[in-house]
Formats: sequence, structure tokens, C-alpha cells
Amino acid sequence: ARAQIGVTGLAVMGRNLARNFARHGYTVAVHNRSYAKTESLVADHGTDGDFVPSESTADFVASIARPRKIVIMVKAGGPTDAVIDELIPHLEEGDVVIDGGNAHFPDTIRRERKLADLGLHFVGMGVSGGEEGALNGPSIMPGGPKESYATLGPILEDISAKVDGVPCCTWVGPDGAGHFVKMVHNGIEYADMQLIAEAYDLLRHGLDADAAEIGKIFEEWNAGDLESFLIEITADVLQHVDAETGKAFVDVVLDQAEQKGTGRWTVQNALDLGVPITGIAEATFARALSGSVPQREAGRAALASDAGTWDVTDRDAFVEDVRLALYASKVVAYSQGFDQIAAASAESGWGIDRGAMARIWRGGCIIRAKFLNRITEAYERDADLPLLIADPYFADIVGKGLQAWRRVVSQAALNGVPTPAFSSSLAYYDGVRAERLPAALIQAQRDFFGAHTYRRVDKDGTFHTEWSGDRTEHDA
Ligand code: 6PG
Repeated sequence: ARAQIGVTGLAVMGRNLARNFARHGYTVAVHNRSYAKTESLVADHGTDGDFVPSESTADFVASIARPRKIVIMVKAGGPTDAVIDELIPHLEEGDVVIDGGNAHFPDTIRRERKLADLGLHFVGMGVSGGEEGALNGPSIMPGGPKESYATLGPILEDISAKVDGVPCCTWVGPDGAGHFVKMVHNGIEYADMQLIAEAYDLLRHGLDADAAEIGKIFEEWNAGDLESFLIEITADVLQHVDAETGKAFVDVVLDQAEQKGTGRWTVQNALDLGVPITGIAEATFARALSGSVPQREAGRAALASDAGTWDVTDRDAFVEDVRLALYASKVVAYSQGFDQIAAASAESGWGIDRGAMARIWRGGCIIRAKFLNRITEAYERDADLPLLIADPYFADIVGKGLQAWRRVVSQAALNGVPTPAFSSSLAYYDGVRAERLPAALIQAQRDFFGAHTYRRVDKDGTFHTEWSGDRTEHDA
């Protein structure tokens, strides 16, 4: 047994991860359900480094030095369980099984318990960065038992992306913490993408510009505070011309956004925790709306449009307004995502360091962005920061863009351009800073029709009013 690490599941992510290990000088045992993929990996990329291919699971496991480290890169759900069950009879105490797929974190918790009972370690590991990241350096979010990180961590840090020489990989927390954080990463990814899409739509309507012209604007934005992978690829995509029709590529793509489920899981979990992640939720629902074909047909046919031509007079000022609104909404979406991490971490006792999460998202992953440095700094100033947008840096920068944000959201509404993520983020900003919220009225209504009780601003305790009787108030 000479391999230092094994990878099973050689579709594009597994294949690239295996190549990444090999390129970093590790001897990599490789295995796939159908042997053809294993053979083609070695045939096509054998020069990357030292691969040990095996056809059977038994040979694969036997080729790895103990305690074994085996990375599973298969589809989340049933296929992951199937591979784990196939590995178990061949494993020995202390071996570490690592799931690098987009698993739902409750599954990770269940799997860890099961393997722990067998004396095995199970690490649920979030991996972000797509194909390119897997090969050249992803952002890696491993959870699971801390002691397994002692031997696994250095290898993962080695193959991860680096920013200023710092690896984009750290131990996130026990059991499901790694996959949980990856899930929230994806939720933020949804929000980021939706915000960019809304900015594009606003520019398109407001400026009556074509896709390529807007691509140029994104290119300029990428040189400033908004610098990020998603802005960069947006600039590229918008300037891409469809070979077949000669039209802007984005104009020939069907406008129905799909999803594999991580955004939905993020929203479901936030509902359970009671954390308002309105940006991520609106982004997830916006995908759902885009795919609601019969509803959209009915809406197009029956619902009036009163929007005339949007006549933007100062084009440069409008572009700058949209940029500021995008930045502010983005800060809100991240702030909400980090709130969710804090809430789940507290509930599950994971002890997740939010500053460290921002740090490992600076490179490698889909949401990588210059501004994550500012988030890390905010948590360095105050590790227990209750609200990211309230950090002095963000409060200042969002405050400076506030008027622009309001102009954009109101102009969008007046001109009939839907901006669910922009406008819900602004509503969140105004909600979270409000002196008093109409929630007081909700409480009064609840007490009126259901005797659900309320608390008062001027004394402690819980009260109920006899609404149907003499309207006296008494302790509840
Ligand atoms: C990543 C991505 C990736 C995700 C895809 C597609 O971090 O590399 O988040 O894990 O699966 O981006 O997600 P949807 O199909 O749900 O849009």
C-alpha cells in the first residue's frame, strides 16, 4: 500500500481533484464504478503525477497506506450512501472517509454517526470552485472530527487555492459543519447571481443598451470594490456572441433558471432557524418564478403593463447608482448568510469562526471576491459581531450608497422592472435599523384573535387582554 490518498468517483470533479493531489506530489489511488473512467484518467493525465488505478473496491482500499484517507466524489444522496456501504467492509479502524460532494448536512451528521460507531472517521467536506477550482485550487470546507484534520488538513491546505499565501481551507467544525457552510456558500452564490442579474436587467431597461455594452460596464465594475469571480464571468458572458445566430449569447438562452437544491436547502434551514435571509430566499424564488411557465404565460396575457419607456437622462449617474445599489444589496446578502452560520453554529455547538469562513472564501470558490477581505477584517475587529452590515466599514460604505439604492429600487418599481433581491435587501436594511417595527401590531392582533399574549415596552412579564370582554389586561 503506497498511495497517500484515494479518490473514488472520477466524474469531472473527482478526476480534477485527483489530478490536483497528484500534481502536488501525492501518490493517488483512483477508482470509479466503471473502470473505463479510471483508465482514461491515467491515460490522459498520467503525466500529472503518481496514480495507482484499481478496478475493484478491495484493491483500491488495499492500495492506500493506513490510516487511509479516501475522498468520495459522487452525486449527493443515494449514490454517496452506496459508495460508503461498499467501502465499509474493506476499511479498518482509524481510516478516514471524506465526502467531497454537495451533501445535505443532516445526511453528513447521520453518516458520521454511523461510521463513528464502526471506529471510522467521516469528514463532510465542502468543495467549491467548479471543475477549474478542483484542478487548480478549490476553496475547501472540511468538517468532521477535529483529530482527522491533523493528518488530512495539511494535504487539503496544500491543494487548496491560496490568497496572499494563505490556504483557502480550514477545519470548519464537527460533524455537518463543513457541508453546512458549503450550503450557505451556495445560498450566497444564488443571491450574488440574482443581484448581478437584476443589475444587468436594470441597465438593459434603463439604458436601452445591448448585452455587450453592459458587459463592458461589468468589466469596469470588476476593477473596483465589486471585483469578484461572478462579476468577471458576467462581463465575459455578456460579450459572448452566439456562433449560430450571431446574436448576443444571453439573448438566445431560455430564461428559466434551474437549481440542484443547495439554495433551497439554505432557505429551508433558515426558516427552521428563524433567520431572515431574504436575499437568498428571493434569489431562490426568482429562479422558481422564472421556471413557472404556465403562470408566466397567464401573467403575460392578462396583467397590465403601465410602464412606458424608461428615460434615463444622466446615464453615467444611473450606472453608478446601480453599482452602489448592487454593492449594498450584496453586503446585505452576505450579512444574512453569516447570521445564518452564527445561528446554526450556536444551535449545533459547532463553534464556527465566521472570519475564518470569509478568509477561505477569498479564493478558489464561486463567490470569491475582493470584498471578502473586508468581511474577514470586520470579524477580526469583533469576532461576535451581531450584524455584519453594522460593522463600521460596511455601515459607512452602505450608508454612502443609500440614496442611490433608494433611487434604483424606486425607479425600478415605477418602470415595472422586477428587482426582488435589490428591493428586499433594502427593506431588510430599513427593517433592521428601524426604531420600532409594526410587529407590535402583529402581537396585538395575535392576542386579539388567539389569546397568544404579548409583552409590553414599560414593564416585564407576559400579558393578555380580554378583547371580547371588558378589555382588561392581566398577567398571562
Ligand atoms: C461551487 C458551486 C457548485 C454548485 C453549482 C450549481 O461552489 O462550486 O456552488 O457546488 O453545485 O454552482 O448549483 P445549482 O445547480 O444549484 O445552481
